[in-house]
Amino acid sequence: MLSELMEDKRKKTKLKLDGIRNLPSIPKVIIEVSELLRKDNTTAVALAQCIGKDQGLTTKILSISNSPLYGLQRQVSSLEFAIVVLGLKEISQLVTSISISGVLKQSSNEHFKFEELWNHSLLVGTGAKDICRQLGYPELGADAFVGGMLHDMGIQLLIKYFSVEFKSIVNASLASENFLNQELEELGLTHQDMGAYLATKWNLPDSLCSSIQYHHNPNKATSDNILVSIIHLTDYMSQLFNVAPFFGDGGFELDESIIDTLNFSSREELNEFIENYKEQFIDAEQYIETL
Ligand SMILES: [Fe+2]
Ligand SMILES: [Fe+2]
Repeated sequence: MLSELMEDKRKKTKLKLDGIRNLPSIPKVIIEVSELLRKDNTTAVALAQCIGKDQGLTTKILSISNSPLYGLQRQVSSLEFAIVVLGLKEISQLVTSISISGVLKQSSNEHFKFEELWNHSLLVGTGAKDICRQLGYPELGADAFVGGMLHDMGIQLLIKYFSVEFKSIVNASLASENFLNQELEELGLTHQDMGAYLATKWNLPDSLCSSIQYHHNPNKATSDNILVSIIHLTDYMSQLFNVAPFFGDGGFELDESIIDTLNFSSREELNEFIENYKEQFIDAEQYIETL
């Protein structure tokens, strides 16, 4: 139960969020792509024309889809080919995650390095997609990718609209090493709530809203438990291995409910699974740092 004081802070922060007039809009390309996907006769060429208007987006789609954990068997060197190899759903998840990361992008400062968040997001996105395949849920891969890419997006709202509080949270978490608790102390809610707030406002799919809202405590998710647990696990592994870690996850604790949700027989079996991934994560980080 939240204490009364915490509940007051939560209400105050929520009111401030509701009152923000210049919240970013959902990137136009996401709407355009989903409209194209709703039509029965959309071709790869039409989709490539729509996405290809943005050269930066195109370059990122190609480099991410060629990254080690993304799992393609062959190199994709053009947008049209990527659409054919990946299929429409995966391409649209790539467009969603890259364009949202772009629209929320905050400049680096003494408390925040955008590069660190971007590398972390790429590792968790591609890692979660690979783990879906390893655990026998390949059909969740595209959703796990976008969920992993955007799970910490609320941090950027915190930086933009709560900059004073953000500085206090960072300073306090340096001493306590638990970022999430400091967010609660300061604002009564966390970057999970902020990210999910915007994702809901933009009418993003429920599975994505849940992934953002519960990535630190998947036991609280009321739907998409396997997906949310896989994103939690990947995020935990990034912190544990110190591979593309993110300071906003400082003091990360594993939610052991994932042992049952993901059908591990014991904590030991989960630990073994985690340990076997270490080298792949290190390789993936090296590739990501070249992007
Ligand atoms: Fe987080
Ligand atoms: Fe994270």
